[in-house]
Amino acid sequence: MKNLFSSQFISLETLPSTPLKPLMASSLTHALCQDPPPPHLDDLLCSKPQQHQTEDDNDTSLPDTSSSFCLGSPSRYLSGESRVERAWSHWTKLGRPKLIVAPMVDNSELPFRMLCRKYGADAAYTPMLHSRIFTENEKYRNQEFTTCQEDRPLFVQFCANNPDTFLDAARRVEPYCDYVDINLGCPQRIARRGNYGAFLMDNLPLVKSLVEKLACNLHVPVSCKIRVFPKLEDTINYAKMLEEAGCSLLAVHGRTRDEKDGKKFRADWKAIKAVKSAVRIPVLANGNIRHMDDVQNCLEETGADGVLSAESLLENPALFAGFRTAEWVIGDEKRNRDGNLDQADLLVEYLKLCEKYPVPWRMIRAHVHKMLGDWFRIHPHVREDLNAQSRLTFEFLYNIVDQLRELGGRIPLYLKDVEVDTLAAEVTANGLANNFCNTW
Ligand SMILES: Cc1cc2nc3c(=O)[nH]c(=O)nc-3n(C[C@H](O)[C@H](O)[C@H](O)COP(=O)(O)O)c2cc1C
Repeated sequence: MKNLFSSQFISLETLPSTPLKPLMASSLTHALCQDPPPPHLDDLLCSKPQQHQTEDDNDTSLPDTSSSFCLGSPSRYLSGESRVERAWSHWTKLGRPKLIVAPMVDNSELPFRMLCRKYGADAAYTPMLHSRIFTENEKYRNQEFTTCQEDRPLFVQFCANNPDTFLDAARRVEPYCDYVDINLGCPQRIARRGNYGAFLMDNLPLVKSLVEKLACNLHVPVSCKIRVFPKLEDTINYAKMLEEAGCSLLAVHGRTRDEKDGKKFRADWKAIKAVKSAVRIPVLANGNIRHMDDVQNCLEETGADGVLSAESLLENPALFAGFRTAEWVIGDEKRNRDGNLDQADLLVEYLKLCEKYPVPWRMIRAHVHKMLGDWFRIHPHVREDLNAQSRLTFEFLYNIVDQLRELGGRIPLYLKDVEVDTLAAEVTANGLANNFCNTW
């Protein structure tokens, strides 16, 4: 048997799975609705996975997953005190990641994670995966969850409302990740209909049983990503309950379930600070992270152990390396310089990663719009040309970048002077060092 684990690209085709009737899960949204639409070209993988041949290809042994099992046996028999200790020892073993790519459906997929890692991200979440579909549908598994050896630390996120199904899904990914995460924050209508995400805030006993099930039976720790309640006291009790149930890492998005629009509502860092003070496990802050000054302020104000960023990373995957879009330089032009990098450069790097680690075209299309959005506003006919394509190719996308460059109006990413100096020191022969925590 060919050992795919020793190659750089891992898809769950290699994992034991229950044979199933194939269901065309053409996008997560559609998959969640259980109402598969006709197959769309954008849902096809951009290319066949490249198998990177190595000398070990004939070695049929399983990969060394020891690092992901550092918590040892499930925490079934541990006291609260020992669980907290183990939570910290695991977090420390991972290098206490501070700068983390948030989970994003259709957007925090492998090539995007790898791009962000190159530019300073210490860890990353997968997009939310639907636990039931994940257990039932091989095609969904293979398409929606891919990873590689360099894709660590990795947090695999699921939505779930059934403890047994959640455990089944989690067991399939535990050798490839450092946390299995439960999405307790999705506020969308689809989550209401499916009874998951932030709507589980109405059924805390179920949340408790989901976390307990995994904490007691899984070898990797369980993490949770929550939203805050309107009342601080409720948020604190919620966080304490999760810790008690066996959660080892808590990410707190400082907006309530009703505060859906991140641009309209500022995340409440005070609530995150209160949670951090109330629990003893590592806590991550989420919301309002648009550049590295925000990171510094957020860590100082909340006392959190790390931050997640979502929307801003989509536009600027080099955010954690200190690069900022023009929007965050206005009024402070003197202290910022052209960082010799722009969003088109980042898109080209992303596309190359997609050639190496194939993903559905719909994900690539979404990233093209985000990364080139500012350029498209100046040259809308290029966007129209893109939208007119029912089937994308890499050639077409590289051409778009060339076309925009020829049309002119380059929009640089900027670095603060202090960050330029640090960057110069950190650049290695391999490109950017994965260590930009010191740039602020
Ligand atoms: C495109 C997109 C997809 C998202 N998908 C998920 C998801 O799968 N799971 C999740 O917990 N949150 C998801 N979120 C929410 C983000 O993880 C994050 O909590 C939210 O955007 C606030 O962070 P920000 O202010 O840095 O954008 C998504 C956000 C965006 C923009």
